[in-house]
Amino acid sequence: MNPTLTALASMTLAATLSLTALHANAQQTPRAKGIESAGYVWNTPDPDLNRALDYKASAKRGKVAYKICKGCHLPDGTGKADALYPQLAGQHTTVMLKQMMDIRAGRRDNPKMAPFVGDWIVTAEELADISAYLKSLPPPVNNAKGDGASLAQGKALYEKDCAVCHGKSGEGDGKKFYPMVANQHYGYLLRETRESRDQGRRNASPEMVKVLKGYTDADVAAVSDYMSRLSVAKK
Ligand code: HEC
Ligand code: HEC
Repeated sequence: MNPTLTALASMTLAATLSLTALHANAQQTPRAKGIESAGYVWNTPDPDLNRALDYKASAKRGKVAYKICKGCHLPDGTGKADALYPQLAGQHTTVMLKQMMDIRAGRRDNPKMAPFVGDWIVTAEELADISAYLKSLPPPVNNAKGDGASLAQGKALYEKDCAVCHGKSGEGDGKKFYPMVANQHYGYLLRETRESRDQGRRNASPEMVKVLKGYTDADVAAVSDYMSRLSVAKK
């Protein structure tokens, strides 16, 4: 074979292999009803989540249990911008617990992380401890930002459509399970906003999806850049 053909053949082989791996993973990952299903109700009562929410959590115990998460979310909880690992420092405990229980039940797809939050690895109580620990850490001021090209557009969109739930400063609302979007990495915000619009984030709030439906990719980028500059960090 000529060199180009050989390269092509090995690329095809690599693609087939990674598809096979994905397939194997999909079979192991639990799957529950999400936004694509008729009758989907956002945040339906989940016994595992309720157990974690009722538990008297300890940040001190959480610091120890957090060791299995550090490789991806980093010791200070600030995640990895380039790998799309979200920053978690200062995030609401209710938000983190809902997201982890959704991943564990198969309502939010996260094949990379699913093996680390399975109930055979961590209990609901340990996840509550870990969330208490992460909540106590300071959110990063040096989170990744967008290119700054459309901030006026981003601000207008955010204030019109998003602030009502995520807060004027991006602080979110723990009581309502609305995530803090301030101090989060741009790439992750972009991805989650786009995935929510396109219903790839299967546990998303239908009210939010309704708002996002009319968003172009440029709108998504502009609003994500604006969000990435919101901050609740102490100066
Ligand atoms: C192999 C890497 C990896 C490990 C280990 C891992 N995570 Fe994650 N985590 C991710 C990725 C990737 C995402 C975002 C997935 C997406 O984009 O939907 C995520 C998302 C999350 C979220 C949702 C954040 C949000 O704002 O919605 C929480 C909470 C979380 N992780 C907590 C944990 C905890 C606690 C542990 C340890 C028990 C852990 N993670 C271990 C990769 C990992
Ligand atoms: C009705 C309230 C509501 C509105 C309005 C809303 N959101 Fe959300 N948003 C949510 C909820 C609830 C979640 C978490 C969904 C879930 O359970 O996965 C979320 C999640 C997100 C996330 C992912 C955060 C994370 O940590 O993973 C981003 C990014 C986001 N919203 C952006 C937006 C943008 C941009 C707008 C405006 C165009 C918007 N939202 C409007 C309620 C809302």
